[in-house]
Amino acid sequence: MKLSQILFSQGFGARRECEGLIVSGHVKIAGKVVDNPFEDLEPEGLVFTVRAESWPYHAKALLMMNKPKGHECSQKPKHHPSVYSLLPPPLRIRDVQSVGRLDEDTTGLLVFTDDGALIHRWTSPKKHVPKVYEVGCKHPVTPEQVDKLLAGVKLVDDPATVAAAAAEITGERPDGLHGLRLTLTDGKYHQVKRMLAAVSNRVEALHRSGFGALALPADLAPGQWRWLPGPQAVTPVAATATTTA
Ligand code: URA
Repeated sequence: MKLSQILFSQGFGARRECEGLIVSGHVKIAGKVVDNPFEDLEPEGLVFTVRAESWPYHAKALLMMNKPKGHECSQKPKHHPSVYSLLPPPLRIRDVQSVGRLDEDTTGLLVFTDDGALIHRWTSPKKHVPKVYEVGCKHPVTPEQVDKLLAGVKLVDDPATVAAAAAEITGERPDGLHGLRLTLTDGKYHQVKRMLAAVSNRVEALHRSGFGALALPADLAPGQWRWLPGPQAVTPVAATATTTA
């Protein structure tokens, strides 16, 4: 693949812009300037630098972010900055999309990709991708509330009942809230908040710690993102209806 094509595919702008970056000496491979846009290279496994920033080639972009509070999962945010503003321009040019959304005040694991098939696969209700939430509740979580969440609750304005795949009381938290770990395999709007409201509790803090097979790494700070090696890092294990309480 020609070097200019590689840069174009990785989100470094229009073809002319990519050629410009190369001929002006801004692109290096293995520490050496490559100023020929037509240099033929094997893209798989290639790492190049553009203006001293290192970029591994990815045929499809796949990454995770630790979403900070106060960011909207929208390209056109209304009240808060967008999570997309935390990504570098080449990823935005590649048009990566978040796989599902988290509320502005929710923190934690958010996956992004430019692979539409993966987005479809991981957001389809039929695929039952497990999502694990650490919930800080206003009121103590009772075993009766857990039983109801596992059995299924009716949400306001929604005819269907929704049930948690797993629910576990995690006890009093350092912030004084009452901890609950909830695993959901569907993804309705404000689902955790609405499910807790349906059992007469209230979500005061919400953090996603798991998505499919992926767990948020402890060393990924809020606002940071990281490449994922491939879909197998996320591909969910078949959902099981565990009933830990
Ligand atoms: N459920 C919610 O209520 N909010 C989120 O951000 C995610 C799941």
